[in-house]
Amino acid sequence: MSTTTGTSDSKVLGVVVLARHGDREGFYQNSTDYTPSGTAITALGNVQEFQLGQKLRSIYLNASSPSFISTVNTTVVKDAQVQIRADGGGEGGVIFNSAVSLLQGLFPATLDYKTTLANGTTITAPLGGYQTVPIESVEPGNDISLEGWTSCNTFVTATKAFYNSPSFKQKAAEHSEFLDLLPQYLDGRAVTLENMWNIFDFINVRYIHDATFAKSFPENYLHQARDLANFHEYGIFSSPQPNGIGNIAGQTILPSILDGLASIADANNPLKLVYQAVSYKPFISLFNLTGAAEMNPQLAGIVNYAAALALEVRQPNAGGEPVIRFNFKNGTDDEEFNRYNFLGSTNDVSLSTFVDTLKPVAFDDLPTWCKVCNNQQDRGCAMLSTLSISSTDRVSPVGAGFVGAGVTLAVVSAMLAGLYLLGFLTIGKRRRGSKFGSETDSQEMKI
Ligand SMILES: *[C@@H]1O[C@H](CO)[C@@H](O)[C@H](O)[C@H]1NC(C)=O
Ligand SMILES: *[C@@H]1O[C@H](CO)[C@@H](O)[C@H](O)[C@H]1NC(C)=O
Ligand SMILES: *[C@@H]1O[C@H](CO)[C@@H](O)[C@H](O)[C@H]1NC(C)=O
Repeated sequence: MSTTTGTSDSKVLGVVVLARHGDREGFYQNSTDYTPSGTAITALGNVQEFQLGQKLRSIYLNASSPSFISTVNTTVVKDAQVQIRADGGGEGGVIFNSAVSLLQGLFPATLDYKTTLANGTTITAPLGGYQTVPIESVEPGNDISLEGWTSCNTFVTATKAFYNSPSFKQKAAEHSEFLDLLPQYLDGRAVTLENMWNIFDFINVRYIHDATFAKSFPENYLHQARDLANFHEYGIFSSPQPNGIGNIAGQTILPSILDGLASIADANNPLKLVYQAVSYKPFISLFNLTGAAEMNPQLAGIVNYAAALALEVRQPNAGGEPVIRFNFKNGTDDEEFNRYNFLGSTNDVSLSTFVDTLKPVAFDDLPTWCKVCNNQQDRGCAMLSTLSISSTDRVSPVGAGFVGAGVTLAVVSAMLAGLYLLGFLTIGKRRRGSKFGSETDSQEMKI
C-alpha cells in the first residue's frame, strides 16, 4: 500500500469509483437473508460524501493534478462523460442521498450553469448555479446488479452453513466472554455471533450519535465488536471459490464495472467517469475476487462510511495496452487514496488480465440470477418462468395446430408486456436518471 502522489509514468484515461454511503441512522438487517429495514442519512453523512466528492474532484478534475482526466468537462457536467448509479434497495434513501452529496462536491455549483433565453435574459441555476447531475436509481425489483444477494435462496443456505461451520462455532466460543459483556448496552438485542452485524451497527451508530452511550461504552469493546463483525461479514460476502454464492454481490456488480472500464479505454466513447453508490457488501466480494484482501488483510471486512474504491484506467506513457490501478480510501480515516496490490501483482495490472480474471464470474442477467439463486418467484423471476412456459406453448406443434391467430397474438403481446415489465424493453435505461430517485422516477426512466 502506498499513497498515490508524485510523478507518474502513465496518464489516467478515466476512473470507475465505488463509494459506500455516509453516516446514517441505525439499520437493521435480518441476519439470515439480509432483508433490510429503513434508515436515513444524517448531516454528518452528507458532509462525508460531499468531502469525498471534493477529494475526487481534486484528483481527477483538477488540471494541476497528475491524475487529471483531461477529456472530462470540469465545470458544467456533460452527461455523456459521466455515469452515476445508486443502489435503490433497503438503504436506498441513504445511498441515493449520498450520491447527491458526493456529486455536489464533485461538480460544485458554478455560475457557468446558465441559460440565455429568447428574450435576452440569462438565468443561472439556483443556489449559485447548483447542478443536477443525473443519477440512475437502481431498483432491486427490476435490476439485480447492485444488490445480488437479496431474495437469493442459495445465499441464505450458504449463510446458514457458515453459521453452522466449525470455524464459526469456534469463533463464537473464543469470544463468548466478550459477548456476555454486551447485553447491558444492547437494548434487548439478541447477543449471538450470528447477530453480530446488527450488534456492531447498533453500537457504532450510538457511539457516534449518543453522548451518554459514548461515555459509558468502552472504546476497546467497539474495536472488538468491529473485528467480530468483520469476520462475520467477510465470511458471508466472500467465498473460497470465485463463483461461490458468497461472492454474489461482486458477481452481479462486475458487469457494470467491466463495461465502465471498457468504455473508458475506448477512445471513441465519451464516458470517462463512472460512479456507483453502494453498501459495504460489493466491496467485500470485490476485494475477495480481486485478491486484494488476500494481499492486504485489512481489506477483509466492513469498509468505513464514505469509503471509496477508485479503479483507474491508465495509459502507460511507454505505450502498450491500458492498465488498472487499484486505489482505496477508507472513509475519513484516510486523508488520501492509497494504492493497493491486487491480482497477485505488486504493480498496475493490464486491463486484459483484469477482464480475463473477472469476466468468467460476472453476470447481471436475470435468468442466470434466478437459476443461481434458485428463485422462481421474486425480482422478476416469476415473470420469467411464465414467459418461458408461454413461448414453449407457442412453438409446440400441438399448440400451433389448435390455437388461432388471435390467441397467438395475445401470447406475443403478453410476452412483450412481460419483457417491458422486466425492463428488457427500455431505451437508454443505463444512462438516464433523475436527481430525486424514487419509485416514480424509476418508472419514468423505463419509458
Ligand atoms: C425574459 O423571460 C424570463 C422568463 O420568463 C423572465 O424572467 C424575464 O423577466 C424576461 N426578461 C425580459 C427582459 O422580459
Ligand atoms: C476469499 O474468501 C474466502 C473466505 O470466504 C477465502 O477462503 C479465500 O481465500 C479468499 N480468496 C482470496 C483470493 O482472497
Ligand atoms: C478501515 O477502518 C476501519 C476502522 O478504523 C478498520 O478496522 C479497517 O481495518 C480499515 N481498513 C483499511 C483498509 O484501512
